[in-house]
Amino acid sequence: MLTHRLALGTALATAVLIVFGGLVTNTGAALAVPDWPDTFGHNLFLYPWSGMVGGIFYEHGHRLLGATVGLLTLALAAALWRRGATLRMLGLVAVLTVVAQGVLGGLRVVLQREDIALIHGPLAQGFLALVVTLAYLTSPAARTPMRVRADGGLRRSTLVAVAVTYAQIVLGALVTHAGWLWLHVGGAVAVFAVVPVVTARARRTGDAVARPLARALLGLLGLQLALGIGAYLARFSPIWIPGEQATILALPVVHRLVGGLLLAAAVVLAVRLNAGSRVFERADRGSGGLGGHLGAPDLIQRASYSALPRPEQPATAERESRV
Ligand code: HEM
Repeated sequence: MLTHRLALGTALATAVLIVFGGLVTNTGAALAVPDWPDTFGHNLFLYPWSGMVGGIFYEHGHRLLGATVGLLTLALAAALWRRGATLRMLGLVAVLTVVAQGVLGGLRVVLQREDIALIHGPLAQGFLALVVTLAYLTSPAARTPMRVRADGGLRRSTLVAVAVTYAQIVLGALVTHAGWLWLHVGGAVAVFAVVPVVTARARRTGDAVARPLARALLGLLGLQLALGIGAYLARFSPIWIPGEQATILALPVVHRLVGGLLLAAAVVLAVRLNAGSRVFERADRGSGGLGGHLGAPDLIQRASYSALPRPEQPATAERESRV
C-alpha cells in the first residue's frame, strides 16, 4: 500500500509539475532564470523565496517541483525494486526518464534552444502516463480479476488509441512551439475517430476497471475538445475571452494537463485489457511477472466471451490435474 501511495503521490506531483511547465511556456518565462543547474548563482534549494517574483516564480518553481518529482521517483523505484522484474524495470525507466527530463530542461535554458522544448513537453506527458500506470499496477484494482477476456481486436485498438493520443500530444507541442495548428486539428479528428470507439467497446466488456476507466477517458476527451477550441480562440483569434488574461493563460495550461491525463487513461486501459495477452502471460511465468498485479491471470485466461474453455486450451484446473 505504501508503494501505491508513493506512486499516487508521484503522479500528483507530476501533474502539478506539468501545470507549472505550462505556466512557464505560456507566460514566456522559460529563460527568466538564465543559468542552470544554479539559479542566479544560488544552489537550486537555497535560492531566496523573496526572489520568487514574476517569471522567476514560474521557472524556479518549475525547477523545484522537478527536483521533488525526481526524489519521489527515486523513492518509488526503490520501493518497486522487490516487486518483481517488470515493476523493477518500469521503476528504472521512470528514473531514467526523470533524469533525462531534468537534463533536457537544463539544456533548453543553457543552449537557449526552443526545439528542445518540443521533446521536453511530450516526454513529460509520457512520464505522467508511466507513473499513473505504476499507481494502477500497485493498486488493489489491478488485482481485481477480469471476468471476460478482451478479444484481440479490442486489445489492439487500445494500443492504437495510445499511439494516436501520443502523436496528438507531439502535434500539440508543434502548435505551442512552432505555431503549426492544422496538423494538430487533423490529429484531433484521428483521436475522435479512434478513442470513442475503443471506449464504447471497452465499456461493453463489463470489466469492473475498464468500464469506469473508459467512461472517464470519454469524459476527458469531451473536456479536451472544449479546452482545445478555447485555447485556439485565445491564441489565434481576436475574440474577447471572459476573464481575459487569466482565462487566456489557463486554457492552454489545462488543455496540456488534460492531454497528459488522456494519455495516462488510455495507457492504463490498454494495460488492463491486454492483461490476458501473451506478453503478460509470458511475463507472469517468470518470477517477476505482472500476473500478481493484474489480477489472477489464470482467471483471465479461462474467461473468454464464450466463458467456455476452448478445446485446445483446457481450463487451468484440468491442465494442473494432468501434470
Ligand atoms: C483531441 C485531443 C487533443 C489532445 C490530446 C491535445 C493535446 C495538446 C497538448 C498536450 C498541447 C500542448 C503541447 C505542449 O505545449 O507541449 C496542445 C496544444 C494546443 N492544442 Fe491540443 N489537443 C487535443 C485537441 C485539440 C483541439 C480539438 C484543438 C482545437 C483547435 C486544440 C488546440 C490546441 C492549441 C491551440 C494548442 C496550443 C496552445 C498553446 O498556445 O500553447 N487541441 N494540445
